[in-house]
Amino acid sequence: MKKIVVTGGCGFIGSHTIVDLLENGYEVISIDDNSRSSASIALDGIEKITNKRIKNYQIDLKNFDDTRAVFQENKDIAGIIHFAAYKAVGESVAEPLNYYENNLFSLINLLKCVDEFKIPHFVFSSSCTVYGNPDHIPVTEQSPIKEAESPYGATKQMGERMLQDFSKVQNCTSILLRYFNPVGAHPSNHLGELPIGRPMNLVPAITQTAIGKLPNMQVYGTDYDTRDGSCVRDYIHVCDIAHAHTLAIAYLLQQKNTTNCDIFNLGTGNGVTVLEAIHMFEKVSGVKLNYEIGGRRPGDVVAIYANNELAVQKLSWKIVCDLQEMMRTAWAWEQKLHKEAAVLKEHSLMN
Ligand code: WQD
Repeated sequence: MKKIVVTGGCGFIGSHTIVDLLENGYEVISIDDNSRSSASIALDGIEKITNKRIKNYQIDLKNFDDTRAVFQENKDIAGIIHFAAYKAVGESVAEPLNYYENNLFSLINLLKCVDEFKIPHFVFSSSCTVYGNPDHIPVTEQSPIKEAESPYGATKQMGERMLQDFSKVQNCTSILLRYFNPVGAHPSNHLGELPIGRPMNLVPAITQTAIGKLPNMQVYGTDYDTRDGSCVRDYIHVCDIAHAHTLAIAYLLQQKNTTNCDIFNLGTGNGVTVLEAIHMFEKVSGVKLNYEIGGRRPGDVVAIYANNELAVQKLSWKIVCDLQEMMRTAWAWEQKLHKEAAVLKEHSLMN
């Protein structure tokens, strides 16, 4: 079995990708310092779904010696899928150095190991953020890379550039996967998103408001030049994103790549407004959402969605989940978290 290293394997997209890799016959190890994820929740969830217990190396990728030791111990790595990074846009504006240090030092340390241990393939978790505010939508992989709206976006642009330059002089072939807006949860309800603190992203803000964890939420602006005034995004189910990573690894292993650093948009190709997303949630959950119309959020892109034809054709990627399934699974996961929290609270009250 080909062995794949998944960094950030205890995170939202990382854990779902590990499930998909295991279901497609790969052996997987995870590297995750668990500074922003829970090893027990992720590894237990993966085990409940696949009946396999994954090993997680709880190390900080900014520490080169610790990172190198993982590859010293696992000599037969066929590829790396690199998710581990900080990804909160607002936080990156407040703490730029933290973001540049964490997201870039970890990538540099990994690439030093790719070089030393001759690891043949590398898949990089990038983001539609690299497009900034696009002049034309849908965006293709050839759409211009514009000024990053945040340090988070800048670290994704720099990460892409590092890989493009690295892949020119190394035998390692890479792929840059530009996610649009990953949402939802695994249909088994054993894995899902675990936002830390008040959720920044729309869908967890919706589900936490609906379950009563948040008293209310705001729609950040309905005065944009869009069909209903609210921002347009390309929401895509986390399981569809996960499977695209398995396809990307297979594409590299079968040497189907066109260049040493191919790029793919991972979006559905459908633009959905914030209000449309909320209305779909209400339809799926039967819950009337308590939201108010607020002011615009600084740094927000007005409208972006993907032209995903390259990924569909070259990776043979088939998108399975629609917006209804995204909302259904996100809601089921929130209800499970709420029930488990209530049980834990009752348990602690009893002791
Ligand atoms: C979506 C829309 C908000 C919360 C970011 C990153 C991207 C990716 C996903 C990592 C916007 C509106 C949100 C709320 C709202 N991150 N919104 N009320 O900003 O498109 O993308 O997260 O992979 O790289 O840039 O996602 O979910 O934060 O916002 O109205 O309480 O929902 O204004 O229009 P975003 P988001």
